[in-house]
Amino acid sequence: MGSPQVVPLKAALGARIEGLGHADAAKPEIAAILCRALAENLLVVVPGNRMTPEQMRNFASAFGKPKPQVLRYKRSGDVPEVSIMVSTLMTDGTTDKTALRSEDWHTDDSYMVTPAKATLLHSIELPSHGGMTWFCNMHSVYEALPEATRRRIDGKRAIHAYDTQRARNRPSQRTAQEIAETPDVEHPLVRTHPETGRRALYLNFNRLDRIIGMERAESDALLDELAAEARKDKHHYGHPWELGDVVIWDNRATMHRVDVDYPAGEPRVMQRVLIEGDRPY
Ligand code: OGA
Ligand code: MN
Repeated sequence: MGSPQVVPLKAALGARIEGLGHADAAKPEIAAILCRALAENLLVVVPGNRMTPEQMRNFASAFGKPKPQVLRYKRSGDVPEVSIMVSTLMTDGTTDKTALRSEDWHTDDSYMVTPAKATLLHSIELPSHGGMTWFCNMHSVYEALPEATRRRIDGKRAIHAYDTQRARNRPSQRTAQEIAETPDVEHPLVRTHPETGRRALYLNFNRLDRIIGMERAESDALLDELAAEARKDKHHYGHPWELGDVVIWDNRATMHRVDVDYPAGEPRVMQRVLIEGDRPY
């Protein structure tokens, strides 16, 4: 079989990988193609059949080292690096809050000193319609800012917290151990992609609490201005899920959000893997 083809999407970011069996992804020469496609396109879509958690851990290792996520209750029993994300909307109002939390633009793991470099999401059960996941290119958001704004934010650092009053929805309850593992952290507001050298605005509407060295009101106003650019359609791609898709995104230069617009009671279940990353700079 020949090399898989990397076909860029007609969108602000993303590429589709054609001609790849999931089982071949972790072969070194294929993994190199996939990692490069991810750094250059920020998002790759690999269609295929549904994988078991174990098959998915192997597939994910093409992109780096899979790491278990903080919330234990989501981890799959025998493969802790794979989490089972149930975002089904319950008819009795007991919907898992993280489904709603993902409704606003965010990048995964930014409350950590070393956030995940990439996330893989693999569709196992899908509702009959709705539930698209949207992605935002944070290189193009940064480049679209007025020169004066870029000068204001270059070199600035910001506090990311597990929860912030700026977020629209509240996160899941953490256990005492999980709280101890998630203190507030500081990151640059503009980061450099370690593989391409491009600069990206590093925002997270759910976790970014304030810019260091500013009063709260000034910080809020500036964060609102940056958010307004990121919300523009021209920076986005919306993924219409097919069963068995794996979507991999680069958390260093993207944000994402989900449309919580699907029918209540219809299962929406994904398997998810986070890939270890480095400290943002
Ligand atoms: C995630 C996430 C969105 C979705 O897994 O990090 O934000 O579409 N998921 O389920
Ligand atoms: Mn997410």
